[in-house]
Formats: sequence, structure tokens, C-alpha cells
Amino acid sequence: MSNNIRIINLPKIIDNRGNLSFIEEENHIPFEIKRTYWIYDVPGGEVRGGHAYKENQEFIVALSGSFDVLLDDGTEQNVFLLNRSYYGLYVPKGIWRQMKNFSTNSLALLLSSTYYEKNDYIYDYEEFKRFVR
Ligand code: TYD
Repeated sequence: MSNNIRIINLPKIIDNRGNLSFIEEENHIPFEIKRTYWIYDVPGGEVRGGHAYKENQEFIVALSGSFDVLLDDGTEQNVFLLNRSYYGLYVPKGIWRQMKNFSTNSLALLLSSTYYEKNDYIYDYEEFKRFVR
């Protein structure tokens, strides 16, 4: 897909005591982290997202369980299944995204390049199409 959307493999320190992975800003992901949030207790069948950001970039990791991330750059759509905690999905700005098919007890970690700003959201798909054109 265009726009630098990509799966990024994270370090995985394999250990009999339990494995460990980590993320360093600007090193493993291409932005400085201004904000971290997580999505949990998602009822079966629910969909999160359904918007784009004008500026915010994200990195999404399934810390537990699994879910699909649907991305649309205005031209092409792709679905990424996230189901391991040692890789994540980089989502540049200006991408329409949805998250769905959350497994029971899934935990989604999202790292963001901006502070929360409601004016950064595009909630209308037609407006998004005009924005990326
Ligand atoms: P939203 O980003 O729309 O969630 P999703 O894309 O997963 O459906 O956010 C839902 C609500 O949470 C909205 O009222 C704004 C609030 N919120 C914050 O206050 N700070 C944040 O960092 C985020 C991500 C959301």
C-alpha cells in the first residue's frame, strides 16, 4: 500500500521467564510519542474508529488477542490482522481507519504522534476523500 503504511516488527527478547518486546520513538517507529491510549473490553461485534486524522500518526499493537485494522488511503483499502505483541501497524496521517473483529479480552495499544485534538479528526468519509485528493 502507498503512504508508508506498514507492519513493523519489534524487538523480541525470548526468555524462558517470559518474552519481552519494546518500542523506542524515532527508532522503531517513525515519530515522537505524544500520547498513548488503549482499547479494551470491546463487546463482540463492535467497530472502533471510522475516521481519519489530518495530522496524527499512529502505531497499533495487539498486546493481547486479535483484531482487524481496515485502512483506506482514499484509493486503496487493505485489512491488517494484528494478533501478536511483537509487531504493529504504522498508520500515517491522512488514512481512514476502522478496527473490528476484536477477540474476547483483546487489548489494543495505540501510540500517537499528537496530543488528543478533536479538530484533527475527519469523521465524514466524503470529506476525507476531498482531503486526500
Ligand atoms: P475516538 O478516537 O473517536 O475512538 P475510536 O476511534 O476508537 O472509536 O475516541 C472516543 C472518545 O474518547 C472521544 O469522545 C474522544 C475520547 N478520547 C480522548 O479524550 N482522548 C484520546 O486520546 C482518545 C483517543 C479519545
